[in-house]
Amino acid sequence: MKQYNWVIVGCGAIASELAQAMEKEGRRLYGVANRTYENAVRFGEKYGIPKVYRSIGDVFTDDHVDIVYISTPHNTHSDYINQALAHGKHVLCEKSITLNAGELERAVALAKDHGRVLAEAMTIYHMPLYKKLREIADEGLLGPLRMVQLNFGSYKPYDMTNRFFNPSLAGGALLDIGVYALSFARWFMSEAPDQITSQMKPAPSGVDEQAGILLMNGAGEMAAIALTLHAKQPKRGTVAFDKGYIEIYEYPRADRAVIIYTEDGGQEVVELGNRADALRYEIRDMENAVAGKTNEMRLDYSCDVMRIMTELRRGWGVSYPEEK
Ligand SMILES: NC(=O)c1ccc[n+]([C@@H]2O[C@H](COP(=O)([O-])OP(=O)(O)OC[C@H]3O[C@@H](n4cnc5c(N)ncnc54)[C@H](OP(=O)(O)O)[C@@H]3O)[C@@H](O)[C@H]2O)c1
Repeated sequence: MKQYNWVIVGCGAIASELAQAMEKEGRRLYGVANRTYENAVRFGEKYGIPKVYRSIGDVFTDDHVDIVYISTPHNTHSDYINQALAHGKHVLCEKSITLNAGELERAVALAKDHGRVLAEAMTIYHMPLYKKLREIADEGLLGPLRMVQLNFGSYKPYDMTNRFFNPSLAGGALLDIGVYALSFARWFMSEAPDQITSQMKPAPSGVDEQAGILLMNGAGEMAAIALTLHAKQPKRGTVAFDKGYIEIYEYPRADRAVIIYTEDGGQEVVELGNRADALRYEIRDMENAVAGKTNEMRLDYSCDVMRIMTELRRGWGVSYPEEK
């Protein structure tokens, strides 16, 4: 496989994970850029990255860069995506890929115009377990899909110095954790949901703190999602069919699922991949897409999820400064 020149934009927690995953994959990190230059210098030294850019803008005008990985807060994604695509770079951007569907539609059009790969770093689309579970569901032994049920809850204090509840950093449960639940639901549903209802309780800062979301598509498949950023919940997903259900814990990076066949009470444990390698699977799928070998990046699902999140926030009256 060709060695692509990857550059990381942003060097926080998830960027460190990507740098480690690249190392394990034997891939090359060509450069790093960050809002605070000194942090990029430290990051570059830690991971042996040859090039540290003075400013983020310099990444996009560097002809040697093939793939830009964006790991800054949600409200900065769209600007960096557009600059990278306009300069002919491929882009892998952290979740949530943009603030809203309008931003994503513009980025998708730009990627098409420039013939470049644009993708969201959504672990669920790349874990081997999910690819296997889709095959099992498609084989039909479990019968038609009826309902997906998902929980996700983290306890985050009301601290405005981080992104979780801060409207100026596009905070809120939906963009931070709801995106995983919606991506999981979309992965199993045969078409995008077009009926959406919900209840939402805001945090003191006005962003969505917790929500109950009900979705249904044209095939009558439903999803029920319970999210909160102010209480711990297990990250648990069940996918219910006529003849059984699949149960998955820690679903954003799952490597194990249990299938219960309800007709005879049989159980099957499916174990595939390794949760510690979640970002390595993303890197592989991204490089294969850039090489034109396969495209398993599922930007179509990211677009469906972003449309749902945009409609939900519109109904809740939650908008970000960039949208006003
Ligand atoms: N896929 C996953 O499993 C996963 C997990 C966690 C997070 N994420 C996503 O990854 C992204 C980053 O999260 P994180 O947890 O890594 O964040 P983090 O540790 O807080 O790091 C944030 C990075 O963004 C930079 N930054 C902050 N505000 C900025 C601004 N206004 N403009 C430009 N750069 C800015 C920071 O630079 P300074 O050094 O200047 O502060 C830092 O390098 C988010 O989109 C998040 O949802 C994904």
